[in-house]
Amino acid sequence: MQRHKEKAAWFAVDFVQPGMVVGLGHGSTAVFAVRCIAQRFNDGRLDGILAVACSLQVEEEARRLGIPLTTLEDHRVVDITIDGSDEVDPYLNLIKGGGGALLREKIVAQASRREVIVVDESKLSPALGTKASVPVEVVPFGWKVQATYLRSLGGEPVLRLGKDREPFVSDHGNMILDCDFPPIDDPARLAAQLDGRAGIVEHGLFLGLATDVVVSGPAGVRHLRRAS
Ligand code: A5P
Repeated sequence: MQRHKEKAAWFAVDFVQPGMVVGLGHGSTAVFAVRCIAQRFNDGRLDGILAVACSLQVEEEARRLGIPLTTLEDHRVVDITIDGSDEVDPYLNLIKGGGGALLREKIVAQASRREVIVVDESKLSPALGTKASVPVEVVPFGWKVQATYLRSLGGEPVLRLGKDREPFVSDHGNMILDCDFPPIDDPARLAAQLDGRAGIVEHGLFLGLATDVVVSGPAGVRHLRRAS
C-alpha cells in the first residue's frame, strides 16, 4: 500500500515545474509528494517554487525539508496542488478530510488552477459514501445541534476524538463530526444542505474540484482527467 501511495505521488510531482506556486496536501499519500518536491527543489530541479501548505503539520514538514513557503495573501492563485483523498467516485468527486485538514484543503483547492489527487486504488468507489464517512467541521458553539441536523439528513455522525480521547481540534479550533451516510445519490444536494447551515464551517465533499486523479495499484499507475 505504501509503495502505491509513493508511486502515485511521484507520478504527480512530474507535473510541477520550476517557478510554480504549489499547494502541499495533507495525509499519508500527499506526504510522499512533499518529500519528492523537497528533494527536487534541493537538487535544483524545481528552482523558484513557492509552497502553500494545507495544514500546520505540512507547513512544519515543508519548513524542515527546506521548501520555501508562501501564503494565499501573497499568492492568490496556486498553479498546482497535490493532495490525497479518502474516496474518489467515477466523476472524480471526492470525500476528503480524514486527516482533519479539510477546511484549508478546500480553500487551497479552490484557489488552484490544477488540483491533482493522488491515491492508491482502494480509494476508488462507485458512489461517495460507500467507503468513507463525510467529515463535517463544526464550530464548538452548539455542536450537538449540528449532530441532530446531520441525522435529519440521513447521516450518522460521530464526534472525532484525538489521541488523548479528547475531542479532536482542527487547525482552526473547530470540532469534526464524521458522518456516515448510505451511498450518496446526489452529492451536490447534500453539499448544498451542509453549505447552507450556520455552524458548519466546511465539509469533506469536494465536488468538481479535482482536475486530475493519479491512481496507483498492482497493475501500475493510471492518470484520470476530469472531463471538460
Ligand atoms: C486530510 O485531511 C485528508 O483529506 C487526506 O488527504 C485524506 O484523508 C487522504 O489521506 P491518506 O493519503 O492518508 O489516505
